[in-house]
Amino acid sequence: MRAVDVIHKKRDGGELTASELTFIIDGYCEGEIPDYQMSAWAMAVLFRGMTAAETAALTLAMANSGDQVDLAPIAGVKVDKHSTGGVGDKTTLIIGPLVASIGVPVAKMSGRGLGHTGGTIDKLEAIEGFRTELSRDTFLNQVNEIGLSVIGQSGNLAPADKKLYALRDVTATVESIPLIASSVMSKKIAAGADAIVLDVKTGSGAFMKTLDDAERLAQAMVDIGTQVGRRTAAIISDMDQPLGFAIGNALEVAEAVATLKGQGPDDLTSLCLTLSAHMAVLGGKASSVEEAEALLRKQLDNGEALAKFKQFVAAQGGDASIADEPNRLPTAPLAIEVKAAASGFVAKIDAERLGVAAMLLGAGRATKDDAIDYAVGITIRKKIGDPVTEGETIATLHARQDGSAASEAKAKVIEAYRFSAERPADRPLLLSVVTADGIERCGAAVQTD
Ligand code: URA
Repeated sequence: MRAVDVIHKKRDGGELTASELTFIIDGYCEGEIPDYQMSAWAMAVLFRGMTAAETAALTLAMANSGDQVDLAPIAGVKVDKHSTGGVGDKTTLIIGPLVASIGVPVAKMSGRGLGHTGGTIDKLEAIEGFRTELSRDTFLNQVNEIGLSVIGQSGNLAPADKKLYALRDVTATVESIPLIASSVMSKKIAAGADAIVLDVKTGSGAFMKTLDDAERLAQAMVDIGTQVGRRTAAIISDMDQPLGFAIGNALEVAEAVATLKGQGPDDLTSLCLTLSAHMAVLGGKASSVEEAEALLRKQLDNGEALAKFKQFVAAQGGDASIADEPNRLPTAPLAIEVKAAASGFVAKIDAERLGVAAMLLGAGRATKDDAIDYAVGITIRKKIGDPVTEGETIATLHARQDGSAASEAKAKVIEAYRFSAERPADRPLLLSVVTADGIERCGAAVQTD
């Protein structure tokens, strides 16, 4: 087989076989297929698309390129969750203990963040003593004992995806639904879960700007899961503003703890309950999403979800007392208020810009070797639809110093907010649910562009 023939076939709209796709992926990983041929292939895929069978075969080839995590020693149906990114996304910190508290085992590998605020691993490491590097046996035993463990992702999980993603990034081939779907699912499949719940965002702050595109991506990922024998459901939600109010590692831990006490922001609580309910159904702990949501809400109200969080933090060496005393988390010395320059209603909040502002304060990394400052970040005080009067605080910066970085961050926050004279129409948070049975739009879901 020759790479040029495979590229030619795809360029002309042909359907690649599993062995052709494995040849391309293995050849690229082993350095036998050069970047220029792989770029041409990726561009051909971007223009010609892929069938569901091709996308599933590509996913498996990438999942097979590195470590395969075997979760068989853990009893029960292991359900994983994946979010397609988002500023202020602390859902894993809430969903993990919440579903574990009703008996769904969670054996999760998470990443560090690059840009914006940290990833889940960085957020957990904001808790003093918390260890995210556990041996395989410790990881598996902990899930069998308490139902939950979260560790750093192995560097050798789907290495083909890592290499291809870096190439796509510089060849304008990121925005291909089969390439995004196979990239996400290859890592989930290699991570070993039996079932997968996907949290797909749409809106200005997301990869997929319109609901139609988000549904196409969700459907492609659900189809992959179905084809490779992993039950998969995707929930599409609006990402036109950050989730909750906190952006920054320790601030997000504190907000996650409040949510586990049943005192979290409505949008964050609602999304976490929905995602958790789908995990509970796939994990066989409830027969309907409604039944699961009622059960899970009880766990927030009766302290069981919080108790599971404390048990989890303690098991990984962290200071579990932060759950009762969140002020023991790292705290920034300065609180700088950002004021509204005009009166009106909040019409838009550019989540991406707020993420950059938090990074400028030190909450995220510009390069992979940068250190994170766990204490710093932003608390937003006004969300879309809120009335604001001139001079009122719209956000608080939690900063180490009041220097040029804080000034730049403040300017970014001001740029991120848009005001209108009229109150904008309410937008539903949950837009669609995509399963192997098809796409179901929620309530008043409307097109998002
Ligand atoms: N996230 C991924 O993991 N892969 C993509 O291709 C895009 C977003």
